[in-house]
Amino acid sequence: MAPGFKQQLPQVGAAAPHNTCSSNISGDGQVLLKSKVTVVGSGNWGSVAAKLIASNTLKLGSFHEEVRMWVFEETLPSGEKLTDVINRTNENVKYLPGIKLGKNVVADPDLENAVKDANMLVFATPHQFMEGICKTLVGKIKTDAEAISLVKGVEVKMEGPRMTSNLISEKLGINCSVLMGANIANEAAIMRIGLKEMRALSKLLFLSVKDSTFFESCGVADLITTCLGGRNRKVAEAFAKNGGQRSFDELEAEMLQGQKLQGVSTAREVYEVLSHRGLLELFPLFTTVHEICTGRLPPSAIVEYSGQKPKLSLLKASVNCH
Ligand SMILES: NC(=O)c1ccc[n+]([C@@H]2O[C@H](COP(=O)([O-])OP(=O)(O)OC[C@H]3O[C@@H](n4cnc5c(N)ncnc54)[C@H](O)[C@@H]3O)[C@@H](O)[C@H]2O)c1
Repeated sequence: MAPGFKQQLPQVGAAAPHNTCSSNISGDGQVLLKSKVTVVGSGNWGSVAAKLIASNTLKLGSFHEEVRMWVFEETLPSGEKLTDVINRTNENVKYLPGIKLGKNVVADPDLENAVKDANMLVFATPHQFMEGICKTLVGKIKTDAEAISLVKGVEVKMEGPRMTSNLISEKLGINCSVLMGANIANEAAIMRIGLKEMRALSKLLFLSVKDSTFFESCGVADLITTCLGGRNRKVAEAFAKNGGQRSFDELEAEMLQGQKLQGVSTAREVYEVLSHRGLLELFPLFTTVHEICTGRLPPSAIVEYSGQKPKLSLLKASVNCH
């Protein structure tokens, strides 16, 4: 997110800068204006964004602490307005129940009021409402405002598809960045890292391996089905639910009744290859999987691991190690 912006100290008698909410004076005599953030949207993702932004604005001196969140107003079964409930309980009881948003999040059902002082506009609304919202906002935002779009989807018209970020930029005449990525499941993150490590290891071991093979049925399709179903998944889930207290051998015998697991032995074989070549650090997911199977790490290590980055680029390694 952009830092606060600097403006020369105004001359005595000069008009105050437009919409200056609060300011700090820096050592070099400049006024450091604090940026104000408004989140346009208050569904599940908009509420998550508002919560995270609000926790950051509390820590960052260059931002105004208050984060406004525009709410498409609705009446709850209790008869209360959603906005009133959010402001009273500090929780979006409909779209993000059970999570406190932070006391500096202010829900506002008036779109124009919610954006009028904002330097940063964070859009998090289903894409089908974006054109109408942008039309409402024309001429109502600060001229130097900047936008970030968290909106998925494109607007499809006769002239062709248009990205939501372009819609925002064109309609409002402001810059718009995009923030996107897998956010829901650790499983998706782990599958992606797994695929990366599979590709890198295959390329290390076999020169003729092509990237395109990983998009075939034997690649990503098999990876997804194996991760979401099948015997390895079934037994690994039982292993994790037991906190690693019951061994894979024991669970295999009990659950598969004669069928065999390949995952555990494959993890060991891969580990041996990597260890032999001194490459364990480059393949942290493969290494972690084996260490969980042998009981050296708890099953939860797989989730903790997914935030780590390998020490070297796998791509670089696959070039250097041939
Ligand atoms: N960037 C990411 O990684 C990411 C992750 C999840 C969701 N998203 C995107 O964020 C956007 C919002 O999704 P969500 O899950 O927060 O929404 P949601 O499905 O949880 O909530 C729907 C929202 O739409 C509002 N709404 C209903 N009718 C409306 C109208 N006529 N005009 C304006 N608003 C109206 C509702 O009040 C509610 O706030 C979507 O585009 C979604 O794809 C992005």
